[in-house]
Amino acid sequence: MTSTLPVAPGRLPGLGHLPYLARDQVGFYSSVRELGPVVRIYFGPMEALLLTDPALIHQVLVTDADKFTKGRIFRKTKPFFGNGLATSDGEFHLRQRRLMSPAFHQRRLAGYGEVMRAEVERMTKRWTPGQRIAWEKAMYAVTPHIIGKTLFHSDLGGEAAAEIHRSLPLVLRGAVTRSLNPLPWLPAVLSRRYDQAGQRLDAIIDRILASYAHDQTDRGDLLSMLLTARHEDTGEGMSRQQVRDEIMTLLVAGTETAAVTLSWLFHELSRHPAVEARLHTELDTALAGRPVTFADLPNLPYLRQVIDEVLRLHNPVPMSMRAAQTTLRLGPATTCPGTEIVYSPLALHRDPRHHPHPLHFDPDRWTTPPAPGTYLPFGGGRHRCVGERFAIAEMMIATATIASQWRLRAAPGYRVRSVAYTTHHPVSLPMIIEKR
Ligand code: HEM
Repeated sequence: MTSTLPVAPGRLPGLGHLPYLARDQVGFYSSVRELGPVVRIYFGPMEALLLTDPALIHQVLVTDADKFTKGRIFRKTKPFFGNGLATSDGEFHLRQRRLMSPAFHQRRLAGYGEVMRAEVERMTKRWTPGQRIAWEKAMYAVTPHIIGKTLFHSDLGGEAAAEIHRSLPLVLRGAVTRSLNPLPWLPAVLSRRYDQAGQRLDAIIDRILASYAHDQTDRGDLLSMLLTARHEDTGEGMSRQQVRDEIMTLLVAGTETAAVTLSWLFHELSRHPAVEARLHTELDTALAGRPVTFADLPNLPYLRQVIDEVLRLHNPVPMSMRAAQTTLRLGPATTCPGTEIVYSPLALHRDPRHHPHPLHFDPDRWTTPPAPGTYLPFGGGRHRCVGERFAIAEMMIATATIASQWRLRAAPGYRVRSVAYTTHHPVSLPMIIEKR
């Protein structure tokens, strides 16, 4: 039963709460938390239960995870993303997850670390002191190259990266628009743009898969891992279609998230000179002027605190969904099969009941761990981000490489605005580059 639960105010006929979500998604989720642990919200005519209580989110993601499937947003994007990790469920998902996890083991990450640093250096080599740069665009350009080159150790890696950079934002936008749009159709012009971007990405993945078909050796990249991985019980590998779906999923899940976090990170450093100075001291002491490697990361604890704080205050994931498969008790609510559930990592991270002075950027809060369930930058349970360690390594290596030599200053007179659609990101971040 959900009819006795509070409804978020301002529901509009036909549109539900979509106009508020479009204007300020995180502000909306945060504003209704006072109403209770479970609040009814509407995407057009579709009802969903927004969870504002960490214990209930934990129940859905972890304790009762087997009673939930991925929600509408994932179902609607399946035609494009296929049956990759992010959109699959149940036994199939668990088997795929077991097969793919080794690609993200420590030993592999050490190798990817070199690619991560090289790609960031390729960008900084072109910088000149005093140059003004569209910072978020620079980050959107560098992370596709990192993921392109770590996924495919192929001559096509660079070409793939350029295509990811060009088409992925459109594909993502199309996926979310299609899943939340209350109308059964989209204007033809939009549909065409989204479809064409998807076809371009598909085409480049196909060419890469074809180039690997002749040579089954492990090239030390993610794609080799996926192609050579075998299920323990049957000894079987993944079908070509499944490999394609997993690659598309990794591209989608792993590119914009890291780019957005790095964008926010340097924005916060430019606003907090004391944090920046402490980070510089740590880098200078630990690295003594040499390039950072994967092995250095445990010796950079303050950098890790800075990243944890950016992931709290500016988590790129504004919300995620699940759908109940059965009738079950969820705090004051009782779900039935098909009940849609929403949780917002970002709104949870900005809840003053769990994170005092939540809008204050303070890496020192990470000297003590947060209360269980109140910090979910990478989700939780069986669908917890498989790329978490990859992302942390990527962001630490990128930040260390840049901040060892450069400082970024906010362009004078510019006021930063953020928007949450596919990710929660700055609209634009003009910065001035200075040599340290
Ligand atoms: C700052 C960077 C990142 C953040 C904040 C982030 C966050 C998340 C979150 C919150 C989820 C769970 C969503 C849910 O509950 O439904 C997730 C899942 C996932 N992420 Fe990430 N992610 C990041 C980077 C990456 C990277 C770099 C990769 C790949 C290289 C990646 C691959 C995935 C995949 C495949 C899933 C689905 C896992 C599954 O369902 O089993 N992510 N991520």
